[in-house]
Amino acid sequence: MDANVTPGRGQWGSKIGFILAAAGSAVGLGNLWKFPFLAGQNGGGAFVLVYFVILLVVGFTLMMAEITIGRHTQLNAIGAYRKIKPSWGWVGSLGVLAGFLILSFYSVIGGWIIAYIVKAATGTFNTSDVKMLGDMFTQFIQSAGTPIFYHGLFMLMTLGIVIGGIQQGIEKYSKILMPALFVMIVLVMIRSLTLDGAMAGVKFFLNPDFSKITGTVILSALGQVFFSLSLGMGCMITYGSYLSKDTNIPECSLYIPLIDTAVALLAGLAILPAVFAFNFPADAGPGLLFITLPAVFSKMPMGGLMGVVFFTLALFAAVTSSISLLEVCVSYVVDEWKWTRKKATVIIATLIFLMGIPCSLSQGPWSEIKLIKGKCILDSVDFIASNVLLPLGGILLCIFIAWVWGLRRVQKISKTDEGKTIITWALEYTDALKEITNDGQVNFALAPIWVFLIKWLAPVAITIVFIQGIFS
Ligand code: PHE
Repeated sequence: MDANVTPGRGQWGSKIGFILAAAGSAVGLGNLWKFPFLAGQNGGGAFVLVYFVILLVVGFTLMMAEITIGRHTQLNAIGAYRKIKPSWGWVGSLGVLAGFLILSFYSVIGGWIIAYIVKAATGTFNTSDVKMLGDMFTQFIQSAGTPIFYHGLFMLMTLGIVIGGIQQGIEKYSKILMPALFVMIVLVMIRSLTLDGAMAGVKFFLNPDFSKITGTVILSALGQVFFSLSLGMGCMITYGSYLSKDTNIPECSLYIPLIDTAVALLAGLAILPAVFAFNFPADAGPGLLFITLPAVFSKMPMGGLMGVVFFTLALFAAVTSSISLLEVCVSYVVDEWKWTRKKATVIIATLIFLMGIPCSLSQGPWSEIKLIKGKCILDSVDFIASNVLLPLGGILLCIFIAWVWGLRRVQKISKTDEGKTIITWALEYTDALKEITNDGQVNFALAPIWVFLIKWLAPVAITIVFIQGIFS
């Protein structure tokens, strides 16, 4: 074990283990469920384009920032901020809160997935009648007891893995589940693309219609980049904290968004062409995965089996993400309150389960309760966490790394300000941040670009989109 690691905290067994676990956190319902329906609702290609731009500017930049803070401090989200600058601990707390909120509704959707595995296995949706499938889905999520039962089951699985710790829990499962997921989604995509009329869906998905780009579309894309990459809430800080000091952070920070984006695109190409082939409205919203996909499967040879396999893998994708959400909270309590992992996991998972109940009920019995912008409880919690807390966490992360931590490093390097030009200052700044990211180990050629992004472009861009989107 690495000498820098706090004993008993745990550490990744290998670099590929970390990449798969972090990519497992990133790849989840955000890719399979949210991305296709957000694209559908927000003008298809227009949304995809905006998503890419934000991913390039903000995604890679913040991924590196979070992993860096985590690996450097070897602490949970709150502890990490606090260790570098004590007055910044509250930013980490916002993150832990976001994780708590996200998992509460995430697990409800995870529960729907489990229910759909059962439905697929018992041949319940052996029809390509999209209307019938739609009714079935609505009926299911509107009922009170069953979705809560499945939500509990999902939380139990999440708990079961997190309790095993980093190597024996999170890493072990990610290494099995992630490659399997990838193969399956490619298969489903091929089937979807070979349906009659599929090309209309491909066109919709990849052809940007610039007139569709509005403030709301940009905010949804920004929220989605954060959500999909598990950024802005200390998740990657936490995962990064189990890395050894010799990991190449820039390299890892590249792989994780790449894998995540590949899966989001594959998911879009698996789902949207089928939507068009069946003449189903592309802006159907959250029901896409649960209504359209079963219709696709019913058209395939051995579709029943495909359905079971696909929803099982969607479940794996969801679980490799939910464990990271739970781990953010657990690692805080274990590090700071010195609880055992077992106690922390059980208690926090129970609390999150309880928080999820209103989210589940908001699909049926409590659907009249509207919290934010006319949204039901589940959508409101999602909005607060993904579109408010995550971008806010992202802005603060940029400021923290570039202006608080970075500036201090610059001051450490340079003894005097006398006679210094802007250029020497910028070079020193780059050196300081380079040192931060690599702990002096790896030469990172793109450092100056990263410094510019994290100091200026990313925080300013996020702030503008954030403010515009909130008030639009
Ligand atoms: N990235 C996950 C997904 O796409 C969700 C997630 C968000 C996980 C934030 C961890 C932190 O499904």
